[in-house]
Amino acid sequence: MKARITLLPGDGIGPDVTEQAVKVLEVVAAHRRLELEFKEALIGGVAIDETGNPLPQATLDAIDASDAVLLGAVGDPKYDDPALAVRPEQGLLALRKHMGTYANLRPVKVLPALLSGSAIKPEVLTGTDLLVVRELTGGIYFGKRERGVRDGERWAYDTMAYTEPEVRRVAHMAFKLARTRRNKVSSVDKANVLDASRLWREVVVEVAEEYPDVELEHVLVDACTMALIRRPSSFDVIVTGNMFGDIITDEASMLAGSMGMLASASLGDGTRGLYEPIHGSAPKYKGMDRANPIATILSAAMMLRHSLGLKEEANAIEGAVAEVVTAGFRTADIMDEGCNQVGTTRMGDLIVERLAD
Ligand code: IPM
Ligand code: MG
Repeated sequence: MKARITLLPGDGIGPDVTEQAVKVLEVVAAHRRLELEFKEALIGGVAIDETGNPLPQATLDAIDASDAVLLGAVGDPKYDDPALAVRPEQGLLALRKHMGTYANLRPVKVLPALLSGSAIKPEVLTGTDLLVVRELTGGIYFGKRERGVRDGERWAYDTMAYTEPEVRRVAHMAFKLARTRRNKVSSVDKANVLDASRLWREVVVEVAEEYPDVELEHVLVDACTMALIRRPSSFDVIVTGNMFGDIITDEASMLAGSMGMLASASLGDGTRGLYEPIHGSAPKYKGMDRANPIATILSAAMMLRHSLGLKEEANAIEGAVAEVVTAGFRTADIMDEGCNQVGTTRMGDLIVERLAD
């Protein structure tokens, strides 16, 4: 089998972590007679530096000719000035839109070895295994926006809008995924205030009728942030809009120990997907061999599972990650007493060694 992968290292620690994921994919390929063809392209700040465009046409062409996309991170402080019209993050949003990846799957599972190092009590964390399905190509991220000055006063707005089909397709995805797990969907919204959320809830209720075997609960987003800390193990699949999903997954990453542990898969209707860690570009750690590559390595595993249909190989990567962490190796972000601190490259090597066994 042959697969074409577009590699988008991006900014900051992006190249550090994608390098490790490629190493892991290559060792899996060598063992399983899988031919992987990687093609690197530009996105984000590095793309603006070279072409003036955060998502150049050459990158879109590479993506259109590939089976999956593996991305590191985008974002560079030199583009932080709010007055700038062109920003690295626009490249990522345009990429998600271009690929039609409307559902962003962000699994949150706590490795037993990381329980004791967490800021949350182990007894609360035990058994946590949830999946956030974040709507990714609509909502306030893609709404109408404007800013200006009127009567000497500055004003700005962003609109949160959802259409019925946008909610329907992501809800179907969530219910289908719940059927492969523990048959529960928690729909997160702010229906006590927002019209867009009231439509969201209505449509989710309609979709739920097609899945009578799946339990549905509605949770307001503010209550959800609390419940994630108080009863994380009670969640199975959480389905929510773009911005709420962005916010609650940063919070949920702390259940798993660090943002450096959380992978994601962005999917649309076909098998082509976009795979990226949920963390950002952490510019101050760029090239310092300090970043945790696990989130990107686990994203590569999701790529094997969802885009290439290689379930066993995905499981093997996840197993190797768990073994290395259980053996006491930690990057700085998940470092705990009595553990062995390692850098980005060594963490990648340790995972590769387990897979090569
Ligand atoms: C994420 C990130 C992005 C988002 C940023 C970099 C635009 O925070 O993937 O969670 O908000 O979607
Ligand atoms: Mg985010």
